[in-house]
Amino acid sequence: MKLEFPKDFWWGAATSGPQSEGRFNKQHANMFDYWYEVEPEAFYKQVGPDTTSNFYNSFKEDIRLMKEIGLNSVRTSIQWTRLIDDLETGTLNEDGVRFYNEVIDEFIANGIRPVMNLHHFDLPVELYHKYGGWENKRVGELFANFAEQCFKLFSDRVTDWFTFNEPMVIVEGEYLMQFHYPKIVDGPKAVQVAYNLVLASAKAIQKFREVNTNPKGRIGTILNLTPPYPATDSPEDKKASHIANLWLNRLFMDSAVHGELPEELAALFDSEGVLWESTPEELAIIKENVIDVLGINFYHPHRVERPEFSSNSLAIDWLPTKFWKDYDMPGRRMNHDKGWEIYPKAVYDIGMDIKENYNNIEWFMSENGMGVSREERWMNADGVIEDDYRISFIQEHLYWLHKVIEDGSNCFGYHLWTPIDCWSWANAYRNRYGFISNNIHTQIKTIKKSGYWFKGVADTNTMELTIHVEGAENFKPVTSL
Ligand code: FCB
Repeated sequence: MKLEFPKDFWWGAATSGPQSEGRFNKQHANMFDYWYEVEPEAFYKQVGPDTTSNFYNSFKEDIRLMKEIGLNSVRTSIQWTRLIDDLETGTLNEDGVRFYNEVIDEFIANGIRPVMNLHHFDLPVELYHKYGGWENKRVGELFANFAEQCFKLFSDRVTDWFTFNEPMVIVEGEYLMQFHYPKIVDGPKAVQVAYNLVLASAKAIQKFREVNTNPKGRIGTILNLTPPYPATDSPEDKKASHIANLWLNRLFMDSAVHGELPEELAALFDSEGVLWESTPEELAIIKENVIDVLGINFYHPHRVERPEFSSNSLAIDWLPTKFWKDYDMPGRRMNHDKGWEIYPKAVYDIGMDIKENYNNIEWFMSENGMGVSREERWMNADGVIEDDYRISFIQEHLYWLHKVIEDGSNCFGYHLWTPIDCWSWANAYRNRYGFISNNIHTQIKTIKKSGYWFKGVADTNTMELTIHVEGAENFKPVTSL
């Protein structure tokens, strides 16, 4: 079966500044740079952010490889810690400006649309030490000023901007689940940080509306959607799933697209005594500065069941303890290397949810992918990794993406995480995701089989489906999460 995609579809891949550039010449440490300085053993094989994939030095060759595999668009991010010298007054770092100008020009010269994100978990650590990071609204203001600098410098050539990557991961990683520095566990702080991130994104969008002069310019945000599926049809499991959805997905989706924080969630937090602090002026900024375009990162669904009994308030217990429980569905398909469930049909459910509940806003799949360890296992005699599992994974996700586009969802692109194997936070280089492999000792980069395959898809704007797609035969649309 041949699947044809809409005209001008984005065929691309995503990376980020902190995961690809390397720390070379940066003025400031971000949260991860600092964490690695103080606790290197927290990182897989003690490989830290200073030895990432060398994009700072090799961007020309790297972009040439991206072109060779047919990418027509690539997302990366501008590092606040590289572009700005004085974080309070926003003075520019000359080398930072030079670097991003050259990167943007190089992408364009190679026929690749540069898609720019402004925050990818890389808060300057000084702002954490001075203000408590995102706990403090002042940091959101400084972020909006940094964003303004980026728009002024680059929006003559960059038309597609995104404020944050996966804000919920900042909240969970830093304030609830301890996988990002400072590894705090504090429900009320997490709620305030979530609100402050919503506000910071709206303030950056406000700046964009003020200073962008490019008529093609548009701005959005990148959200990781983990669609919840209740373990059973029982009212208890459904209620648990509903609350999980309010917090994990709807908080950022509703505020980004509709300019409103979900009332039901606010009421629940209020009754638990943990509601965020907001002012009418701030809520007006959120209402007025909604996004033009949405990026969705999708890796895995979220299976949910009713919680085990708990009478504590949210100030002591957190939501999953009090209102839901993660459900390990028997028989689910897993990517065991990363520990994430593989459930491609969720792409259809996400697309329908956007169509029906979010004004059918224009969106693209901004990340999707498969992290696999020890990929040299599949290296052939020519040094090419034969990652057929990745090709099948992408095919299945694209099958459902195509189907939901056919059913009217307004999706304009697909980006894999990631073009060239890059550094993954605490996991460092344990799992590889790229179309292009990277030997981190020699920095030799080699296109994988999936890279050659993707070029065929991108060049023809069609995908030949060569695998069985689970659930495709007796498919019945689920129209609402
Ligand atoms: C996502 C992040 C990205 C990368 C992938 C594997 O959650 O956005 O930076 O680490 O996971």
